[in-house]
Amino acid sequence: MSIIYNPVQSTLTMHTKNSSYQMKIDEHKVLVHTYYGSRIADDDMSYLYMTFDRANAGQFEEVFPDRTISLDTMAQEYTGCGVGDYRISSLLVQNGDGSYGADFRYVKHEIVEGKYAIPGMPHSHDEEKEAQTLIVTIQDKVTKLMVELYYGVFEKQDVITRCAKIINGSNEKITLLKASSMALDFPYGDFDLIHFHGKHALERQMERCHLSHAIETIGSRRNTSSHQHNPFILLANPETNEDFGDCYGFMLVYSGGFKAEVEKDQFDSTRVVMGIQDEAFAWELNSQAAFYTPEVLLSYSNQGLAKLSHNYHDMIRRHITRGKFKNARRPILINNWEATYFDFTDEKIVEIAKEAASLGVEMLVLDDGWFGIRNDDTSGLGDWFVNTDKIRCGLPSLVKQVNDLGLKFGIWIEPEMINEDSDLYRQHPDWALTMPGRVPNRSRHQLVLDMSRDEIVDCIYERISAILRDNPIEYVKWDMNRSICDLWSCSLPYHRQGELAHRYVLGVYKLMDRLTSEFPDVLFEGCSGGGGRFDAGILYYSPQIWCSDDTDPIQRLHIQYGTSFGYPVSSMGAHVSASPNHQTGRTTLLNTRGVVAMSGTFGYELDPSKLSEDEKEQIRIQIETFKLFYDLIQNGKYYRLSNILSKSYEAWQFVSQDKSEALLNVVVTNTQPNPTLMNIKLKGLEKDAIYEVVYKTMPDVKRTFDIMNSPAMKERYMTKKEQMTGSALMHGGYTLPWVVGDYPAIQIHFKKI
Ligand code: GLA
Repeated sequence: MSIIYNPVQSTLTMHTKNSSYQMKIDEHKVLVHTYYGSRIADDDMSYLYMTFDRANAGQFEEVFPDRTISLDTMAQEYTGCGVGDYRISSLLVQNGDGSYGADFRYVKHEIVEGKYAIPGMPHSHDEEKEAQTLIVTIQDKVTKLMVELYYGVFEKQDVITRCAKIINGSNEKITLLKASSMALDFPYGDFDLIHFHGKHALERQMERCHLSHAIETIGSRRNTSSHQHNPFILLANPETNEDFGDCYGFMLVYSGGFKAEVEKDQFDSTRVVMGIQDEAFAWELNSQAAFYTPEVLLSYSNQGLAKLSHNYHDMIRRHITRGKFKNARRPILINNWEATYFDFTDEKIVEIAKEAASLGVEMLVLDDGWFGIRNDDTSGLGDWFVNTDKIRCGLPSLVKQVNDLGLKFGIWIEPEMINEDSDLYRQHPDWALTMPGRVPNRSRHQLVLDMSRDEIVDCIYERISAILRDNPIEYVKWDMNRSICDLWSCSLPYHRQGELAHRYVLGVYKLMDRLTSEFPDVLFEGCSGGGGRFDAGILYYSPQIWCSDDTDPIQRLHIQYGTSFGYPVSSMGAHVSASPNHQTGRTTLLNTRGVVAMSGTFGYELDPSKLSEDEKEQIRIQIETFKLFYDLIQNGKYYRLSNILSKSYEAWQFVSQDKSEALLNVVVTNTQPNPTLMNIKLKGLEKDAIYEVVYKTMPDVKRTFDIMNSPAMKERYMTKKEQMTGSALMHGGYTLPWVVGDYPAIQIHFKKI
C-alpha cells in the first residue's frame, strides 16, 4: 500500500520507494501539510510544528481567540484566498456575490487503485497498473466551492503527481482568476532554486540561485511553455550536488502559459505554487461545473540531482510517453531543412534520399515548404495541399520513390498557424486570433488559428489526416513557430475571453489526440521553433521533441545538459548538421557532431551530396555505432559528469540498467597546448565488477596525438584492451589522452566481463 490513512492520527501518508509525503486533517479540519522528504514510517509528522502567537497573524473562525493558530503561518495542501493567508495562493476566485474569498476545510477522502486521468489533458498513465490514487475533497462552507485534490503515487519512480478539480458547488456563477495545480509548503529548510531559462536557439540553460525573501516567479505569458522558461523547477539544499543532498522537482504537464512561484516568507518557510499562468486568466464556472488543472509531477531525491533526474527520465519514458514508439527503436532520419531550406524540388529530395540510403539512414523527413505556395515564410500556412510547382511528381510518387530506396518517409506540418497569404485565410479571415479593431501582431509573418473553435480543429484535422491517409507517411514533425498574443475569440462572450488561452491549449491537445489515435503507427515529433514547447504535455502525444534550432554541437552541449535535468535523452531531437554550423559559423569535427547528436534521438540535417567520401564513410560508422549503443543510450541511466560552467570539457555517461555496460562521452570544449590532464570519474557502476574497454574513439588529429602523447599512453589508449574494476573507474577515474582539434570528442565503451 503506497497510501495510508491513519484514523487515529488523522494523517494521510503517501510512500514511494525512497520518499514519503504526508498531510493531516487537523482538529479544525484544515488540511495541513506535514512532511515531504526521505521515506519515514507511519509517524504523525505534525510533531515538527510549533504554534506561537505571531502578533500580526489573524485567526479564522474556529480558532478565535487562540492567537497561536493562523492560516498565515500554517503549512497547507492547497490554499484558499482572501481569508488571512497573505502568502502566494493556489487559487483566486470571484464568488457570485463579488467577493474574492475561499476558505477550505477537509470533507472526505478516497484511496483508489490505479492512476486518475484528466479529461482532455495530458497526464501520467499507468499501463502497468502500479499506481494508486488519493482524492481529498476540501470545501468552502460559505460558497460550497469544492476542490478535489488528486494525488497519484508512482512508487518505483519516486514520483507523486498532483492536480486539482475545482467544482462550483454554489447556485451562482463564479469566476476562477487563478487555478493552480498545487501548493507545497516547506516550513523549514534553506533552498536554492534551479530553473531553465533560454531563448530561441539556446533553450534550457540551467540557472541556480539562492532563495531570498523576494518571491521568485518562473513562467511564460506567451501561451506556450516557451523557449524562455521551462515548466520545470527544482529546489535543492545549497550543499546538494549531483551525488549528494536533498532536492525536489516540480514539472508541469502542460504546454501553454504557466507560472511557478516560490515564496520564502517572514518565518523562512518556503511555499511553491505551480500551474496555469493566471495573467489574463478568468474561467467562468456555472453552478456545479468543474475545472481541471493540469498535472504536476513531484519528485524528491536525497541522493542529489542525478537521482532526481533519473526519477524524471524513468517517469517520462514509462508513464508519460505512450504508443508504439514508447519502446520501439525510432528510425535514424535525415531532414532536408538545413540542406535546402525552402529551395528544393522533388528531384533534390530524391537525391538526398538516395545519398542518405547509401549511408544507412532509415527515414527521410521533408521539412517546411512542400505545401501551398510556400517558397519562404511569408505564405502558405494553412494550405495543407502539396505544392506541385516544387513536388512536380506529386506527393504519392515522391513518397514511393523514397520508400523504393528503402527509406521511410516523414513530413513537416505547422497545423496551428495561418499566413494571411493563404487560401485558408482568404476563405476564413476570422479564423485567426485577432482583437477587434486591432491589426494583429505578426510573428514570422504568421497568425495563430483560434484552436478553441471546434470547426477549426475539425478542418485542420481533415486536411492533415487526408495527407496521412493518402500516403504511407511514417513520421510527422509538428511545428509551432511563434508565441501567442491577440487573444480574442469571436466564439466566446466577453466575460469568457479569459478562458481563451487555456481553451486554445485544449484545442491543440484535442487535435493531437485525434491524429495520434488515428495514426498509431506514425511517429510524431514535437517542435516549436526548436525547443519552444519542450514539455511533458507534448511528450504525452509525441515521444520526442526537436530540442533546439541550434545544431552547433558545442551549443547543444549546454542545451542538452540543461534539458537532461528533467527529460530523458530519448525525448531530445538531435541531428548532425553541416560544418561550419549554420547558426554559429563554428567549425567542428564530424565525430564531435555525431557524439553529441547520439545523446539524443539521432539523425542528420545536411546535404549528403556535399560530403566527401571520407565523411560518408565516417557517417556509415557513426550510424552503426549509434545502432550498437541504442539501448544503452536510450534506456540507460544518464549521468552528468562535468559542470558545464567550470570545465574545459563536458562529459556525460550512460550506464545500462543492469550496470553491465557504460558509455563515456567527452567533448573537449577548450583544447589547450600543454593541457591539464582530463581525469573523469565514472558513476553508477558495480564496484567489484571488472569492466573492459571494448570500444573507443580514435583521435581525429592523429599526427598531433602521436607527437604529444607518451609511448605508454599511446599504447594504452590505441592498442590495449584495458580492464579496471568498477570501483577503480568510479574512485580513481579514467584518464584521457591528450587530444587536439576543433572540439574533439571521445567515446569509450566499457563492458563488464
Ligand atoms: C522551425 C523548426 C525548424 C524548421 C523550420 C521550418 O524553426 O524548428 O527545424 O522545421 O521551422 O520553417
